[in-house]
Amino acid sequence: MMFRIARSRIGGTITHYDLYKVDTKKGMTVLDALFQIQDRMDPSLSFRYSCRGAVCGSCSMLINKEPRLACRTQIIEVKKNEMKLKSFSQISETPTGWNPEVEILVEPLPNMPILKDLVVDMKKFYDTLVSLKLWSDIEHGDEPLSQSPKERKKIERYVNCILCALCYGSCPVNSTKDEYVGPAALAKAWRFHEDSRSSNPEQYAKVATQKDGAPLCDLVMNCVKACPKGVAPGGAIRKLKEL
Ligand code: SF4
Ligand code: FES
Repeated sequence: MMFRIARSRIGGTITHYDLYKVDTKKGMTVLDALFQIQDRMDPSLSFRYSCRGAVCGSCSMLINKEPRLACRTQIIEVKKNEMKLKSFSQISETPTGWNPEVEILVEPLPNMPILKDLVVDMKKFYDTLVSLKLWSDIEHGDEPLSQSPKERKKIERYVNCILCALCYGSCPVNSTKDEYVGPAALAKAWRFHEDSRSSNPEQYAKVATQKDGAPLCDLVMNCVKACPKGVAPGGAIRKLKEL
């Protein structure tokens, strides 16, 4: 299988695409292919990964123009191309010569500055979580705080977020409005707002519904299609908009 991979200089934009022939076998993922390219053909290829098991959220990238985790995308599945994203801002024009029948195209995630090749700068994505104080404010002293199965169910899907930023990269509002906090931050705010153990749940709704938050969302729902963990940020944002 041929891989066409976007290349860039440090801190730059895409300068060109390199073609590599990868020996594939059953069960192989796109991340496995990137390792093979880096090990055998081009040690200068840069990409980010850690867990290799869809847990750390590091290996987000565009694969055949769809935002995906490289470690969770089997090569055999790539051609399905099924997300059907709307108003999606591509990182680049379709490169000349790309034949999706015989090549897999790999590019960095949109809506974030490129650091090098497939590595993007996620600082703004993380900084937003910090500036909005999206962490638990539970005050319980030394006593553990229990939660009923019903209470836990309310926040279950939001707890699964791995901060991969695929929702952020797929969002048409994030591509045009730099100030928008993005789907993951809003899903996290809703998670703490709904958590039965939160000491002051209203504070999360307050930061999420300020002008750079839920009001900017157009409910396009690309975030729901792109999320690999079923978090469905768009549903949380819809509820925040109703508040
Ligand atoms: S909401 Fe989904 S797509 Fe967005 S950061 Fe969390 S896990 Fe990734
Ligand atoms: S390497 Fe951790 S999510 Fe892909």
